Amino acid sequence: MPSNTQPRGKFLAVEGIDGAGTTTFVQGLATALAGAGVPVHRTAEPSGGPVGRLLRELLRSLEVPDTAVYALLFAADRRHHWLTEILPHMEQGTWVITDRYVLSSLAYQGIGEETAWVSNLNARAPLPAVTFFLDLPYEVAQARLQARGGIRENLEDADFQEKVASRYRELARTFGTSLVTLDATQTPQHLVRAAVRELAVRGILPG
Ligand code: TMP
Repeated sequence: MPSNTQPRGKFLAVEGIDGAGTTTFVQGLATALAGAGVPVHRTAEPSGGPVGRLLRELLRSLEVPDTAVYALLFAADRRHHWLTEILPHMEQGTWVITDRYVLSSLAYQGIGEETAWVSNLNARAPLPAVTFFLDLPYEVAQARLQARGGIRENLEDADFQEKVASRYRELARTFGTSLVTLDATQTPQHLVRAAVRELAVRGILPG
């Protein structure tokens, strides 16, 4: 943590390959927590900040940037996101749920770049209390992307996503106890209920 005092709000992250349903899950979890009386702020990476906006532009461009450029920009966006949005909300006692965080960089930029280097770039990114990993076979995720109108960003290519899916599973095995894997073939309602249960079991959500 960059400051001596622990922020009062909890920090949660949601991860998964493109098409895994992270955005729907984040919305559902935020609604469920708000219903339980928890003040919640929903956010995402790339963030809405200057580096995040540049990343959105690059993701939609036909010229795919070098992997290292992506790794550096995602890490810079994350640092800015933390300082200007995540931490201030947590200091107010608000819980923050981010749609993607460090694990995305380790999974996506970890293909082509050394994990240790990507991890070092993210050394100043505090660990969320829980990271929910929505595990979905990449074929199912690709079908969802097609149904929504096909590939819109340059990291959504099927071959690349297959590699990202196996990287995520590898990372999930070694990430530690703050990571919770959820079977993303289940309905959004089921996933949210499972996540709320997990937060209660861990004593993060007061019963
Ligand atoms: P989104 O589709 O969830 O909005 O995310 C945008 C894309 O950016 C998605 O393909 C995942 C990718 N991404 C990375 O490659 N590294 C990262 O660190 C983050 C946050 C996203």
